[in-house]
Amino acid sequence: MNDDYVTWFRHSSPYINAHRGKTFVVMLPGDSIETEDFHNIVSDLTLLNSLGIRLVVVHGARTQIEKQLALAEVNSEIHKGMRITRREHLDEVLKAIGETRVKLEAAFSCGLPGSPMHGARVRVRSGNVVSAMPIGVIDGIDFQLTGKVRSVDGPAISALLNDGNIVLLSPLGYSLTGEIFNVSFADVAIQVAKAIGADKLIAFNDDGPIKDKTGQQYREMTLLKCEKFLVESARHNQDNSYFSLRACQKACDAGVARAHVISSHEDGALLRELFTRDGSGTMVYRDSYETIRRARFDDVVGILNLISPLEEEGVLVKRSRERLETELDCFIVMEKDNLIIGCAALYPISDSRSAELACVAIHPEYRSNGRASKLLAHLEKQASKLKLERLFVLTTQTAHWFLEQGFVESNIEMLPEQKKGLYNFQRNSKIFCKTLN
Ligand SMILES: CC(C)(COP(=O)(O)OP(=O)(O)OC[C@H]1O[C@@H](n2cnc3c(N)ncnc32)[C@H](O)[C@@H]1OP(=O)(O)O)[C@@H](O)C(=O)NCCC(=O)NCCS
Repeated sequence: MNDDYVTWFRHSSPYINAHRGKTFVVMLPGDSIETEDFHNIVSDLTLLNSLGIRLVVVHGARTQIEKQLALAEVNSEIHKGMRITRREHLDEVLKAIGETRVKLEAAFSCGLPGSPMHGARVRVRSGNVVSAMPIGVIDGIDFQLTGKVRSVDGPAISALLNDGNIVLLSPLGYSLTGEIFNVSFADVAIQVAKAIGADKLIAFNDDGPIKDKTGQQYREMTLLKCEKFLVESARHNQDNSYFSLRACQKACDAGVARAHVISSHEDGALLRELFTRDGSGTMVYRDSYETIRRARFDDVVGILNLISPLEEEGVLVKRSRERLETELDCFIVMEKDNLIIGCAALYPISDSRSAELACVAIHPEYRSNGRASKLLAHLEKQASKLKLERLFVLTTQTAHWFLEQGFVESNIEMLPEQKKGLYNFQRNSKIFCKTLN
């Protein structure tokens, strides 16, 4: 068997475990359903379903509606990026949406031997879970049957997901008066994500991931950065990328922790984004109010407040204020609302390719939410930039946490020469090492 394949599969297992049981809402624009890669996208979604990910797929139908209106020799009217759905054209709109939906259901039903979906047995379900109301009159223009989502029946969707179904939703909503409204598929996706407490929103985008003015791709964006980017782009360019990113921003604003813009033309972009470290698209994430940064002089008091109680308990080695001030360059801190809630330090050892990790601490009120893992990941990146190959840490009471972070138990012989002489036998710390990729 090919070794690359085995290695890739092994490396993807932490992601498989992390995503199992999570709920993702996927936005599939009408255009992407017309591409050659469409069947690959559907089989990748099926694979996610097989791996225990709960999926809601919301499809668009802009291209299909335009084609259908053109066939009926009707000009499609768009104002402020939204279609005006005239009553007399509703049949055309429903035909286009219905056909798109059926095409998707058929694609999810593929299962020929030899195809990636063989044996998957996907069940696609839907229902009257989105209620809508008219958008009304904007700039003097009556949008008629163009609507916006009024409410989503979250429990009904969750029940369908609990039964292992993929929930497929169209850009439609029904009103209390029994009317059908054409709503934007992004609106449906965002409101559904909010109603069911989705873990992720994934927006397939025909123009690929988000890029800056020079064409450089953004791998990730804080919500704040995303908002700034959207304000900036709104002035000159409201293209597909703008709308995909805006959906991500709105979803994160509504409580979704992470949202991703990925290419609908790059084969395998979805799997790369979810199961590899580097990903393929642009991820927008919410925890923008907690920042990790290098420590500054005015953080000394905050760091001391955090570590002093741990020093008293003997969990951390005592550091005087003077020592902390001289070693401040080695420290990073996690700040939330002007409070230092975490810190960690990296001490590169000269004449060796290793560094000591020390003083990892999270404020007791903020523990067990992956924050220390984030600090560690940050320091590992820093260490890789310094071309370091190995991290080691000495600890008395936190051995298992380091084991869970990929460290392995080691011994004094493995320490760099300079550190060996300084080892405090009375403290009798355990030694752990991690080799960096
Ligand atoms: C260890 C510490 C940094 C972890 O911070 P955190 O942000 O809560 O860490 P994470 O969220 O990434 O991991 C939390 C997990 O680690 C576990 N954990 C916490 N302290 C642990 C310890 N001493 N030994 C083993 N596991 C520990 C938690 O139980 C939790 O597991 P759970 O999710 O199954 O409940 C934090 O508990 C702390 O500040 N401890 C005191 C200082 C310390 O021991 N520093 C390390 C010496 S350098």
